[in-house]
Amino acid sequence: MNTLFREIFKSDIEHTYKAPARINLIGEHIDYNGGKVFPCAIDKYITAYVSTRKDKELHLFSKGKDLKVHSLDNLDFDEKMRWEKYPLGAFYILSKKGYKFPFGLNIYYESEIPVGSGLSSSAALLDLTVFLISDIYKFNLDRKEITLIAKAVENDYLHLKSGIMDQAIIALGEKDSGMLLDCNLFTYTYHDVNLGNYEFVVLKSNKPRSLVESKYNERVEECEKALSTLKKVYKIDKLVDLSVDQLNNAKVILYDDVLYRRVKHVVTEVDRVNRFLLALDEGNILELGKILDESHLSLKDDYEVTGFHLDSLFQACKDSGAIGARMTGAGFGGCAIALIEKEYFPKFKKRVTTRYLELTGLKPDVFEIKIVNGVSKIN
Ligand code: GLA
Repeated sequence: MNTLFREIFKSDIEHTYKAPARINLIGEHIDYNGGKVFPCAIDKYITAYVSTRKDKELHLFSKGKDLKVHSLDNLDFDEKMRWEKYPLGAFYILSKKGYKFPFGLNIYYESEIPVGSGLSSSAALLDLTVFLISDIYKFNLDRKEITLIAKAVENDYLHLKSGIMDQAIIALGEKDSGMLLDCNLFTYTYHDVNLGNYEFVVLKSNKPRSLVESKYNERVEECEKALSTLKKVYKIDKLVDLSVDQLNNAKVILYDDVLYRRVKHVVTEVDRVNRFLLALDEGNILELGKILDESHLSLKDDYEVTGFHLDSLFQACKDSGAIGARMTGAGFGGCAIALIEKEYFPKFKKRVTTRYLELTGLKPDVFEIKIVNGVSKIN
């Protein structure tokens, strides 16, 4: 790597960092509604190789893309920016908070997280960049601050109304554990995800995600609209405060089938998160599978974020003997997770690949995962 780095930047690598991808096990589209989610970081990484510069420029490189050169004195967002808007956004938000960058950096990003696959390559890139900035310029940001700065880049620089889940798990993830994250209070506890002879596997639909950003913002706005109507009747601050019992009346109050179904997903998903944690504690594999299936169907019928490819992938998992399955992440294409018996993996992979190909004409990528720690420095 150093030879390649030298060729591009005419200097040696001084620091190396890596940030993992994530999957969400349960609690989908719940973070921006103020509830609890249960994601984990997985062993697919973006690595950043860095050296310092004498001038005040940022030289950013990613394999297969052009070298991007930017002055640290002008970090304003520009529509023409491509992938570099993520690292530049990190510098921008930090500079607005008063942090100073006395010298520039050369950064080579190398990613094994497929872009647009719903495994959160963008949050990984953001956390990674904030983390390396904090280390190199000695800002001493803790992992919660890193999360909040990365989220601010998405919300205030890139204008995506995303919640806190992805940035939090990539900053704070712990090996072999899921993180039960209260997205309202930003508090969290870790829970062992040891399923004995069973495991979660990831399936990539290979349907390029489309319209994710506009559809995602649309869902956030629908939830905000429903909340403002429901608040007039119920004493609630967040959509997740609505109880399952209040749901029936909500139908009459909202008087809008689409909004009602969005709320129904949120309220029932909150319940599924609680049941999932209980089932995990009890090692109740069948119940975990059942909850995954219910979550997928709710995201399909009520929240409407799945689409043909993710629904076909879900179906293919069920037809191939998965105990449970569901889409993971924002949806509109991307990835699914399935719960299977470990021993069964090679057969499952074969069967699900054939079945998904029959249904869609596309081959999925199917892989086993390890649950890993959040962003870190390698040397
Ligand atoms: C994306 C967002 C997250 C979260 C999920 C859906 O990954 O970045 O904040 O809302 O979608 O659960």
